Amino acid sequence: MSNNQQSSKGLDRRSFMKGAGMTAIAGAAGTVASVAGTTASAQESSSLDIPKLANGKYDFETIYNRVGSNCARWDSPPRNYPGGEFKFGMGVASMDFECAPCITEALQERINHHSWGYLSSTEGLRDGILRWNGERHGVDLAPEMVTISDGVYPGMIAAMRAFVPRGSKLLLSTPAYTGFYSMASAANVEIIDSEMKYVNGRYEIDYDDLEAKMTPDVRAMIVCNPQNPTGNVWTEEELLRVGRLCLEHNIIVLSDEIHSDVIRRGHKYTPFASLPDEAVVNNSVSFNAISKTFNLAAMKNAYYYSKSPVTKGRVDKYHRAELSTLGVVANEAAYNHGAEWFEEANAYMDDTHSYIESYVKQYMPTVGYTKNEGTYMTFLDFSKTMESVGAKEMFASHGKASPEHYFQDWLVHNSGVYLNPGFGYGAGGAGHMRMNIASSRVVIKEVLDAMAAAVNKV
Ligand SMILES: Cc1ncc(COP(=O)(O)O)c(C=O)c1O
Repeated sequence: MSNNQQSSKGLDRRSFMKGAGMTAIAGAAGTVASVAGTTASAQESSSLDIPKLANGKYDFETIYNRVGSNCARWDSPPRNYPGGEFKFGMGVASMDFECAPCITEALQERINHHSWGYLSSTEGLRDGILRWNGERHGVDLAPEMVTISDGVYPGMIAAMRAFVPRGSKLLLSTPAYTGFYSMASAANVEIIDSEMKYVNGRYEIDYDDLEAKMTPDVRAMIVCNPQNPTGNVWTEEELLRVGRLCLEHNIIVLSDEIHSDVIRRGHKYTPFASLPDEAVVNNSVSFNAISKTFNLAAMKNAYYYSKSPVTKGRVDKYHRAELSTLGVVANEAAYNHGAEWFEEANAYMDDTHSYIESYVKQYMPTVGYTKNEGTYMTFLDFSKTMESVGAKEMFASHGKASPEHYFQDWLVHNSGVYLNPGFGYGAGGAGHMRMNIASSRVVIKEVLDAMAAAVNKV
């Protein structure tokens, strides 16, 4: 039986652990597992205890094996490492947690109908979207303000086509999600980067630079809230300032809020459409999904909305979505019954972020990291290690696109850990690597120990 034919309970966890370099993991639900047989430097660093688990209903600690399930995070990178050097997929933004039971139950129920013709209605899904945004985030949306899509990508590409005519440009605060560059390419649009400043451990918008780049040929700006990969959860004041600058310069705001639920304790997500300035809000389109919240990326479901019917109508003209029955069922179940699961997952990830921050400070002193305000990504500053391994001098002769790509390879060969290279995130990405932290802390600890051993030896 192949891995993807096995039931979730029967997944071949032992072979996964072997592949992941874990020699003895006690994986009983609700317990903190012990890791034995690790390298000398890993043993030294394992004195930092993994945070204790809260008494929750759901288990995020037991390793959930996704290897062999045609999963981008774990099954794509090994294709480039046929020698078996790859051990830990810490790149692509998807979660390693078993999904909320309400989603599996709803899918199982629907599968009992052996019929897969065209869908009749998405009313239930739309209700879920309106309720989720209203109750959780205080955004008052009417059904006609929302267009359901099969991803943030198609909506964004439609908006770029609508607002950025050929020869015009799109502005982006960077470092920012690599996908914005592919969306812009699909829409045949040029992106102008405005690099953020790193001030006291936080990325800040460089307003002087941003405004200087708001030339008449710039027609749209992407706001990423929370910002992937830096984790910024933008405040009302920051969003208003950007929104007013855009309005002044005749630039439409495309606000990507796909990470809006994944907010760290002590921070508050402000939907762009809830800003206290009607003109600013009407000059925007927001893009969202619960695919990050519930790990439903391949269920192809998202939406965009605008409080201005004219603005939304312009995007609609260029947009066409094809939804799948199972995607609608899964998303509806998550909106209607998943909140409790997500609260626990988010609290778990919060503790993981804090754990990583302490670990990096204590055991990887040459690596820079401040706990993100949102998202389940971290943007680690490896510039010192990259200098030590000569990434700048070596990348071209090794056929790599950037020093960060060279370092990505170096890290896999020296620790088994696969991260995303900062190069792809635009200006400001140099020297950085993005790490996904949405995994069991048993895995996170193994990853950190392996990286520390590699980094500290150079
Ligand atoms: C900021 C951001 N926008 C969009 C996406 C992709 O959205 P979708 O899969 O709905 O097209 C991602 C995925 O990681 C993301 O981080």
